Amino acid sequence: MNSMQPFTMKKIVILTSGGDSPGMNAAVRAAVRTALTNGIEVYASCSGYQGLVAEELIPLDTVAMANCIQLGGTILKTDRCLDFFEPRIRERCRDFLKEQEIDGLVVIGGDGSFRGAALLQTAGGPPVVGIPATIDNDIEGTEYTVGFDTARNTVLDAIDKIRDTASSHNRNFMVEVMGRRSGFLALDVGIAGGAEYILIPEAPMTADELAARILDPSRKKLSSIMVVAEGEHPGHTLELAKQLREKTGVIYRVCILGHTQRGGSPSALDRKIASLMGAKAIQMLIAGEHNKMVAVINDRLVPMGFPNPDHAARKVTDRTLLEINEMICK
Ligand code: F6P
Repeated sequence: MNSMQPFTMKKIVILTSGGDSPGMNAAVRAAVRTALTNGIEVYASCSGYQGLVAEELIPLDTVAMANCIQLGGTILKTDRCLDFFEPRIRERCRDFLKEQEIDGLVVIGGDGSFRGAALLQTAGGPPVVGIPATIDNDIEGTEYTVGFDTARNTVLDAIDKIRDTASSHNRNFMVEVMGRRSGFLALDVGIAGGAEYILIPEAPMTADELAARILDPSRKKLSSIMVVAEGEHPGHTLELAKQLREKTGVIYRVCILGHTQRGGSPSALDRKIASLMGAKAIQMLIAGEHNKMVAVINDRLVPMGFPNPDHAARKVTDRTLLEINEMICK
């Protein structure tokens, strides 16, 4: 069937999946309001795909969406429901959705959530549209993911606070930030926060290379901030600080921001983009633009195929940013 044919959408399910991110609620709110305006009933699968596994759907209306646009996290709850990747469990979810006469599914989350969505569609589930939402900004095919800007601002606020004590005591700090395999968050906040060094997975630096730069006689810093991306090993910065002290004699205090980066009221940018994506997702379902996500390309919202599950996460490739990072890490 031509995927561009307008579809009759009477009943849809919406869910948030994977790591929560600020702005998810704005996306849910806009999708629900747009669907209701188009005469479509909306049901929540709470805690991501877990709601489908439990065969529990909660009806949503504008009252349920009231006063949530400013809230961090997700009022629908979320989960990394690994059970869903079991084919027989996924097929049971497909059958449940068919019994409930669900015509469409909106999945708000990261690349893992979209893998689940694509598998459900392949198994004969309802048409699906994805809204990219993760603080990592690492989804292939879109330049932006909901939550990234709020997380940037949260981290920047923390860096500025750490800088106060660093400069007061002439101390050196290493701030570890999230982002999993990508360095988008670390690079943006490192530049904006005036970090002396920014360590990201895309531009690895050994402890010896870093020590050589710290010991460079031209370095005159009395205090400093180093931003370190967590990469595949959250908490690795503690070991790096230990190695640097052994190699240079310089004490680096470590501040691992952890899950504080996931919370907080979404920024204006995240509320706006999330709201536009929520509305666009419903328009895509109605227009037959299925098994795609709402992507940001050149500041425009466009339907885009889901990331290739065999591909790694989106990485920092912007030469300019990488060259700036190289200059900063002199
Ligand atoms: O994907 C978002 C993210 O916050 C990553 O940056 C981080 O590595 C991961 O989730 C943490 O996962 P969890 O919340 O399951 O500990």
